[in-house]
Amino acid sequence: MDEKRRQLLTGISLAGAGVLVSACRNSPNQTGGATNDQNKNEGPPAPGEAEPIEVTATEDLMREHGILRRALLVYQESATKLRQDAASVPPDALEKTANLFRVFGEEYHEKKLEEIYIFPTVKRVPGAAAGYVDILLAQHARGREITEYLLSVSKADRIASNSVEPLAKTLESFVRMYEHHAAIEDTLVFPAWKAAVGGAELDELGEKFEEIEHEQFGGDGFETALKRMEEIETSLGLSNLDMFTSPPPPGAK
Ligand SMILES: [Fe+2]
Ligand SMILES: [Fe+2]
Repeated sequence: MDEKRRQLLTGISLAGAGVLVSACRNSPNQTGGATNDQNKNEGPPAPGEAEPIEVTATEDLMREHGILRRALLVYQESATKLRQDAASVPPDALEKTANLFRVFGEEYHEKKLEEIYIFPTVKRVPGAAAGYVDILLAQHARGREITEYLLSVSKADRIASNSVEPLAKTLESFVRMYEHHAAIEDTLVFPAWKAAVGGAELDELGEKFEEIEHEQFGGDGFETALKRMEEIETSLGLSNLDMFTSPPPPGAK
């Protein structure tokens, strides 16, 4: 099955999500605030409307990591459940998550932003961040191999019993790699890029990123990906943040 068809069947083709995007565009988000598109609208606010909030280029990149971290949580929880009871992990939820990672993470965030705009600039500037670029690129490539594997394993109606342990191990090692990958980008690479490009160019690039996002997704890719991620979390019973609150430490009263 080719990738486009798979994306359509699993409902995760963000590129074809224009209808969903326009449905989201004019409604308040779940926290009751303005939607991202409203935030990004240009021009003065109508009387009684709040002032739009700018999303800077680095904030944009970091909140994209937020979407990807939520996908990593699905992977981590799936690995744990696979070992307890493989039948309790619905392959289509895993497939939807891998497809979202591919379309939003790999094809857009990594290939269209980091590899074209961020890494080449950071590599030219002397400093600690430059030394990470080759490793980050190798991890993008490894991630794509893993996504391909996840898509192939999850396309069946059930996870084959001989795939359970290799799949759980692969999910865990991917989570470990990408959590650290995103943390290095957030704390070293993006700040180095921001310092290298400076204020005026940063604003221009912020607008450029927004254009790329609209070109790629036919609308607001972040809002669409967020909605998809929330649907996946709900389908897996992972949408209640409080269930992840740690128990008290030993000896606590
Ligand atoms: Fe990256
Ligand atoms: Fe990234």
